[in-house]
Amino acid sequence: MNVVILAAGMGKRMQSALPKVLHPLAGKPLLQHVIDAARSLVPSKLCVIYGHGGAAVPAMVAGLAAEGQAPIATALQEPQLGTGHAVMQALPQLDDAQPTLILYGDVPLTTVASLRALVDAAGSDKLGILTVEQSNPFGLGRIVREGGKIVRIVEEKDASAAEKAIHEINSGILVVPTVHLKKWLASLSNNNAQGEYYLTDIVAKAVADGVQVVSAHPSAEWEVAGVNSKVQLAELERRHQLNIAQRLLEQGVTLMDPARIDVRGELICGRDVTIDVGCVFEGRVELADGVTLGPHSVLINARIGAGALIKPFCHIEDAVVGAASQIGPYARLRPGTTLAEDVHIGNFVEIKNSQVAAHSKANHLAYVGDATIGSRVNIGAGTITCNYDGANKFRTVIEDDAFIGSDSQLIAPVTVGKGATLGAGTTLSKDAPAGKLTISRAKQITIENWTRPVKVKK
Ligand code: UD1
Ligand code: CA
Repeated sequence: MNVVILAAGMGKRMQSALPKVLHPLAGKPLLQHVIDAARSLVPSKLCVIYGHGGAAVPAMVAGLAAEGQAPIATALQEPQLGTGHAVMQALPQLDDAQPTLILYGDVPLTTVASLRALVDAAGSDKLGILTVEQSNPFGLGRIVREGGKIVRIVEEKDASAAEKAIHEINSGILVVPTVHLKKWLASLSNNNAQGEYYLTDIVAKAVADGVQVVSAHPSAEWEVAGVNSKVQLAELERRHQLNIAQRLLEQGVTLMDPARIDVRGELICGRDVTIDVGCVFEGRVELADGVTLGPHSVLINARIGAGALIKPFCHIEDAVVGAASQIGPYARLRPGTTLAEDVHIGNFVEIKNSQVAAHSKANHLAYVGDATIGSRVNIGAGTITCNYDGANKFRTVIEDDAFIGSDSQLIAPVTVGKGATLGAGTTLSKDAPAGKLTISRAKQITIENWTRPVKVKK
């Protein structure tokens, strides 16, 4: 099958410098949603028609090149003379032996199941249209039927009062035998209310040529809803998130409020996972069995082990949290963090590019960067690994069972030996030997007979 995606429209109502089809929905450009759906159908040819926005659209498309996937061709439509004219730009790319499916780059939520139903209904020799009964059809092309059979599509601006009363609309998504498509497009005229070459005029041509016209229908209006404004983008974003929430609930995930979750990527959940309100997921996030997420955390490319508890307001990116660990509230796990099982990371603790072995704790106010931390280590409040000398980064190693007293600074590269204790306030500039107390602190003294100064009377 050939797939042509129309994406040349300018999207003036978005009020934005960004081409419309590049605006993100669930963190992914609108056009990419359409390309992903198209790719699920394994097309032999895939061509994106672009216009406004210069090189930005083809640049984004080039970034989607993937092994094992058909390359995506692009064709410039300049000027934009209508949907029929847009499809003409793709014709040299198309394989005559395969039907051509036409999609819109600004209609992001059509399901693969609906597209398959359409393609199956049309087979190799019929023209298929995805149509839907819409309570408010204003502005859209109407499906005109005679004796139940589709005979043509009429645009709002060209429609008679009787035609305007039709509620069955053209989603714009069509599948057409390619040899016919080429012939019909070549004979299009722009003799209509908008002076455009309407793709929809091929329907009457099919009927005239004795080619059967069939229809398929999506599960709901949102599947064929387009984005023309930020209002519509926001509506489809919510719809999409609700669909994702629905799927998670059906899998057995507990969502405290399915209207307050945002998945901008792939969220994979085990059994008995609970997610409180306001969590945002980006990239690929895995929550193993029994994970509980408190409210308002952001998780980006993260893996959370079984039974772990993420308390409210955490930021976790490119990190792994071990089973039965407790994180937060207000913890930040930065890229390269790997926590083993039963690790406790508490409030205002930042961890970057570090490995923390089982049963270790950093419960309050600490920065751990470029560190390797053993098991059962206790990192006191206010501890800082000084990993950066202004030019280079160095590692801190803290071996098993070490105890780091509060408010210590560990000047890397430095090692704290197994079972060593650092006294509170230590600035560690040399290795601390295993099993011993190391302390760097001015000796405490008390001044006898000292009195506070008193205010001088004037
Ligand atoms: C078109 C259909 C209409 C249908 C509606 C669904 C025609 C003539 N009309 O309406 O029956 O109900 O879609 O939304 O086909 N585009 C280009 N180049 C152009 C013009 C449009 O690439 O020259 C692209 C747009 O970027 C958009 C899509 O085609 O993705 C539809 O264009 P739009 O102007 O929104 O639709 P209409 O022509 O009004
Ligand atoms: Ca439109």
